[in-house]
Amino acid sequence: MEIINNASLKQLNTFGVDASAKHLTEIHNLEDIEALLEWKAQNDLPCLLLGGGSNLLFKNDYQGLVAKICLAGKDIAEEDNDFTYVSVAGGENWHDFVRWTVEQDIAGLENLSLIPGTVGAAPIQNIGAYGVELADHFQSLQAVDLETGNIHEFDLLHCQFGYRESFFKSQTLDKLLITSVTFALPKKPNWKMDYAGVREVLEGVEPSAKLISDAIISLRMSKLPDPAKIGNGGSFFKNPVLSLDDWEAIKANHPNIPGYPQNAVLAGGTELANGAMKTSAAWLIDSCGWKGHRKGDAGVSDMHALVIVNHANATGAELWAVAQEIMASVEDKFGVLLEAEPRVVL
Ligand code: EPU
Repeated sequence: MEIINNASLKQLNTFGVDASAKHLTEIHNLEDIEALLEWKAQNDLPCLLLGGGSNLLFKNDYQGLVAKICLAGKDIAEEDNDFTYVSVAGGENWHDFVRWTVEQDIAGLENLSLIPGTVGAAPIQNIGAYGVELADHFQSLQAVDLETGNIHEFDLLHCQFGYRESFFKSQTLDKLLITSVTFALPKKPNWKMDYAGVREVLEGVEPSAKLISDAIISLRMSKLPDPAKIGNGGSFFKNPVLSLDDWEAIKANHPNIPGYPQNAVLAGGTELANGAMKTSAAWLIDSCGWKGHRKGDAGVSDMHALVIVNHANATGAELWAVAQEIMASVEDKFGVLLEAEPRVVL
């Protein structure tokens, strides 16, 4: 395990923030994992596990070891009458993996095309888009406990997946290294094409994983800024879930507020007695006039109000300051508290 000191993280986070790490290493195989366990036992410094760096905002330089997970490999592990079981290593690029399934005409993950990041980071966020989330096709995952070296297997129930939530996000960040994930992909596809922009493209054609994946890719490219061209981490805020009463109170003054009814939803850990509505964070932010806002190099995308962008050399603290201004103005205008989606590393 090679360690680089005082390494720039600019190329390793999609916000393009030029923070540095006191130490940086890459984890390619089991030997590297063992060396990492040893390093942790010998050094009293924090360690951050890094995937594609697409959901992470470095507010400052990192005063510990950043370990980039580069574990590679993917395979059809098993098949039965109903499912193809595909196992993939944690360091693989998510989108490349999705396209690998699509090219073999294996359905299930096509709606999750072009989501940035790695396979190992995907369950932490329970990534989702266009009516599908990772949990829908998840079978199990393997992870190494970096305190004990023990290997654990997690099934669906133990992952506690929610909307952009999981057991790993709430309990085990940087403590468990996800080495591989297995998906159960249905042989009888259940296409999800209801989303505006997807159905239109596929009108009158026989759907396939490839056609849907291609449609999702064009849709995302038309709606979301490309992190390769302008630094960003996708949606910066979660869509808030409100009680029906709160949502109706806002609607009385703002009749156009979107509302998506939620079944038996848990908000902040408590079931809302009167039903719940998910609303659109993008709509709330847009209504406060933030789209296209720019202060120095930090700003809000002019393509999508939910995306905070780094035009060139914004620091993590500057991007976070924009996020805080947005949160304050949405709270002021609508009384809604937005919650950041990416992990903010202090
Ligand atoms: N809208 C605006 N202004 C905008 C953009 C959108 O008012 O600038 C409103 C529109 O009313 C639109 C609604 O917001 O109909 C929803 O917008 P969109 O369809 O883009 O979806 P989203 O709720 O903003 C979520 C995910 C995205 C995912 C899309 C598609 C979250 C936080 N974000 O965005 O995920 O791609 O749905 O399923 O749940 C990500 O997590 O990084 C991400 C990009």
